[in-house]
Amino acid sequence: MAPQDTSLYSLSSEQAEFFKAQTGIDDDEDLKRHILEVQAKAYKVAPYPCIRSFVFLRLNISNLSVYEHILELGRKRPNAVLLDIGCCFGTDARKAAADGFPAKNIIASDLFNDFLELSHELFKTTPVSYPGCFIPGDVFDPAFLSIAAPSDDVSPVPAIDLSSLKSLNALHGRISVINAISFFHLFSEEKQLHIARALAGLLSAQPGSVICGFHVGTLEKGVVNNSLSGSEYKLFAHSPESWTSLWNGEVFEKGSVKVETELVEFATGEVKYFMMKWSVMRL
Ligand SMILES: C[S@@+](CC[C@H](N)C(=O)[O-])C[C@H]1O[C@@H](n2cnc3c(N)ncnc32)[C@H](O)[C@@H]1O
Repeated sequence: MAPQDTSLYSLSSEQAEFFKAQTGIDDDEDLKRHILEVQAKAYKVAPYPCIRSFVFLRLNISNLSVYEHILELGRKRPNAVLLDIGCCFGTDARKAAADGFPAKNIIASDLFNDFLELSHELFKTTPVSYPGCFIPGDVFDPAFLSIAAPSDDVSPVPAIDLSSLKSLNALHGRISVINAISFFHLFSEEKQLHIARALAGLLSAQPGSVICGFHVGTLEKGVVNNSLSGSEYKLFAHSPESWTSLWNGEVFEKGSVKVETELVEFATGEVKYFMMKWSVMRL
């Protein structure tokens, strides 16, 4: 496990503004101390590179082209639910809530309940001050998330009390927005397909319902080298073409979704790699 490196900490002006508004901490040094304290606790729970390199401070969901559409669903579609899956601290869930998606209809979910509890610590909230819902669970555990065929029921979704849910299975065909940032690339090709099918089963069939994310991509699907804060590792990555055909034809019936992808190139030292922004929208 790579040691923590506080020199990797940096906040853009947009991130600083967001975290100051969220935490009520105005002073830059106080804010840094607070974030480092919570980061150290999370790194002990599970030493993900994204925690070590402060990826959780990025407001990734807001950089996706579907973000305005997501906020509009939150404003206009009655009972629209947003799920942030593999959320760690749930920064994207908090960002969407800050931008107006009703917090009580947002679920942040992760394998580690400790991360979900640390979300309250990072954002200095309590279940009363932030009514968003946190549901821990393993996406590969069928008792938590079983695979169901994509819904074809386009009728409006009734109100659901999310606060008592222990698994996502009660939400098959009922979720309007699913966000999966830096999540799929943790897994093999086979497991990525499993997660895609599982998330597709949760999505509402109402046109405009969307699954989106951002993760390591590549020009030709296969195993790629990736680098985050100096550590190198190998990951299975899809290309825009393979990702598009996985969703449009394999997971969902061909023609029933619109898939958008965008590769963005990054370089860390010698290692160049691509990240892929993507969205899958029900038509
Ligand atoms: C690389 S982090 C990304 C976190 C967050 N989405 C972000 O962008 O900052 C991946 C997250 O997926 C969670 N995770 C890993 N395996 C999982 C599983 N089988 N089920 C649910 N969550 C899982 C990890 O605990 C971790 O918080």
